Amino acid sequence: MDHKIVPVDQLLPDELFIVPLKFRPIFPGLVTPLMIPPGPLAESVENVIKKSPYIGLLLQKDENVKELSVENLYSVGTAARVLKKMKLPDGGIQLLINTLFRFKVKNYRYTKPFPVAEVEYFREEDSGKRDKETQGLMRAIINNARKMANMNPLMTEEMKLTLVNVDSPGRLADFACNILDLSKEEYQEILETFDTKQRLEKSLRLLIREMEMLKLQQQIEGKITDKMAEQQREYFLREQLKQIRHELGLDKKPKEKDAEFYREKIQSSGMSEEAKEKALQEVEKLEYVEPSASEYSVIRNYLDLILDLPWDTPKFEPIDLKKAERILNRDHYGLEDVKQTILEILAVRNLTQKNKGNILCFVGPPGVGKTSLGKSIASAMKKKFYRFSLGGMRDEAEIKGHRRTYIGAMPGKFIQALRTVKTADPVIMLDEIDKLSSSYHGDPASALLEVLDPQQNESFLDHYLDIPFDLSHITFITTANTLDTIPAPLRDRMEIIRLSGYIPEEKVQIAKKYIIPRVMKDAGVQPFPKISNKELKGIIESYSREAGVRSLEKVFRKVARKFALAKETGKEVPSEITMDLLKEYVGPAYFTDRYNAKIEYPGCANGLAWTSLGGAVLPVEAKAVKGKGKFKVTGQLGKVMEESALIAYTYARSLSDDKQFWEDHDIHLHVPDGATPKDGPSAGVTIVTALLSLYRNKKVKQGFAMTGEVRLTGEVLPIGGLKEKLIAAKRSHIKHIIFPADNKADWEELPEKLKKGIQAHPVRHYHEIEKLLF
Ligand SMILES: Nc1ncnc2c1ncn2[C@@H]1O[C@H](COP(=O)(O)OP(=O)(O)O)[C@@H](O)[C@H]1O
Ligand SMILES: [Mg+2]
Repeated sequence: MDHKIVPVDQLLPDELFIVPLKFRPIFPGLVTPLMIPPGPLAESVENVIKKSPYIGLLLQKDENVKELSVENLYSVGTAARVLKKMKLPDGGIQLLINTLFRFKVKNYRYTKPFPVAEVEYFREEDSGKRDKETQGLMRAIINNARKMANMNPLMTEEMKLTLVNVDSPGRLADFACNILDLSKEEYQEILETFDTKQRLEKSLRLLIREMEMLKLQQQIEGKITDKMAEQQREYFLREQLKQIRHELGLDKKPKEKDAEFYREKIQSSGMSEEAKEKALQEVEKLEYVEPSASEYSVIRNYLDLILDLPWDTPKFEPIDLKKAERILNRDHYGLEDVKQTILEILAVRNLTQKNKGNILCFVGPPGVGKTSLGKSIASAMKKKFYRFSLGGMRDEAEIKGHRRTYIGAMPGKFIQALRTVKTADPVIMLDEIDKLSSSYHGDPASALLEVLDPQQNESFLDHYLDIPFDLSHITFITTANTLDTIPAPLRDRMEIIRLSGYIPEEKVQIAKKYIIPRVMKDAGVQPFPKISNKELKGIIESYSREAGVRSLEKVFRKVARKFALAKETGKEVPSEITMDLLKEYVGPAYFTDRYNAKIEYPGCANGLAWTSLGGAVLPVEAKAVKGKGKFKVTGQLGKVMEESALIAYTYARSLSDDKQFWEDHDIHLHVPDGATPKDGPSAGVTIVTALLSLYRNKKVKQGFAMTGEVRLTGEVLPIGGLKEKLIAAKRSHIKHIIFPADNKADWEELPEKLKKGIQAHPVRHYHEIEKLLF
């Protein structure tokens, strides 16, 4: 022990009353409160400090041992001076103590009731001279403690201040340890380390360890808060997304709901068992596929289609024929034979209670009412009407559908139609069946055959649907301009109904009773302007030299629009439609007298032709120039017609006496109107006539038109389309028609109304024509 001069308050007693500490030792150099619970210890302490303010603090080894024994106390502790004592209401006391020095128990003077120990003190030795190592350690501790103070929010400013002001190395070590969170044993170990340098080292190590711990803790906390922030952010975004999707109506049902929804619908639909099974298989697939996958919507589209189709077998309902007739007459003028046929078919349907087996085919030039008749039939039958064009269709898939493995696959037109009309027994109109073409995409005609065949269409298999569907309740109506290009098997399957075109008198009625009221009504023009029959006839002459009434309807639509404009702009609205008004409204006449088939030169003759646009008067003209006996034809003639021209040429030569004429001249035969392709043999007699007229240099009689194939012998062979040809002749003011005697029966069948004003000349041999015309 050294004997330096020490302050009075440091003259410490040799014996100390021991106060046991439960949890941790208290390092020297601090002023701190100390609580002592009520009981004998508190009483003893009160008595002791009345005599001397010094006590010794020793840590208990095991805080759980109730009975106080010296064996359970560490032997190194801290001596403290009691600065103040306070009595607590519960009987305990609170002391304010100033801890002074470390001590070591040499020996217990008493152990009971409380130990009093003979002790040896250890004062901090600090000469002010510190070696480099100590200085380094101190600085390291101060730096680290400072950093830690910044990291630890529990460090008060005062503690930070103390840290800088502690100047003895031993105290610094103690102070540093004091602010660390150590175990009881670690604290005690520091307390028992008397060597200053060693203590500095230990406390630095503990400080660094604590720093690492703190850093780690902060990192973990950071990560956790990051994670939480992320989770929260995600949550908010999701909520927002949900809201947005909801607003946009995109909040689709989750797939379980989808599957459930489809299952229910499938069960309650009238599907066949086979279809049900197939559909349920698809629902199962749906459950395995992610809703975001494209496959998912493919399956859904398919299921939607199946569910949209009319699976129930339609009930048969008889048709009120009287009403049907009324509807047909309401929509169309004339066409008596056509209407008659339709009513007959409907009557059969009523009697047999079957819808099957009638496929109608309306054949005729454009604008004669094929399409609109189809619509009327549908409304007469009280059925839905669906129409699509086969014109230019070249891909079989348009009828039979694509296999579903293709991207963007679609069902065929018939399944689409049924989905749209939602009944299994609509009237489906297939327009332009004569313009169906085939290509490497397959043959739509044969696919169509499958649809139209009553034997096959009960279980029609669309590639997309992939379940047989019954098409046999559908009423099919097809339309065509000509039968020639319809494949024979298809043609055989259909009930052909011809619409030949209208003569001017019929057009007058159609215009007056149907077209004008309809277009005026569509344009909102009321009351309808008047029009006289005479004016109307003139208008038809000048603006509608067609078999049908399509251009006529267009012309009147134009007129109706002009009326509407006049009305709306407050101009004077004419009360009557006249030719002059039409010239003003529509423009000059499309057709003039020139089209009236006048014979103006030798070498001209009028034939009668039949094209897909209807009947037509076909002028033929021949001219001879000096030459070497060549014969040449122009005017877009087809193969058959060219051949028939050669036959006619040979025959005409054979009829003439002056053989030299044919050898000295080149003959040019032309059939004007190059825009209309012409073919067929029925111009034979006309060509002979033109050539003979040329040879004889004599005009043929006016007002005649003829048709007939001619043989090399001069015999006249039958032709087709007599009705159409007659109608065309009437349009061109022809008065006499020459036709083959073999067609006499056809002629007899034609309505009197059509034949009125026409003289018929059936002939067997060309000689008869020669006699008539020259
Ligand atoms: N006999 C008729 N009576 C009344 N309107 C007719 C008649 N024939 C044709 N039409 C009308 O002529 C227009 C053209 O007929 P549309 O059916 O399109 O002819 P298509 O299909 O034969 O080419 C339609 O507005 C139609 O109502
Ligand atoms: Mg049509």
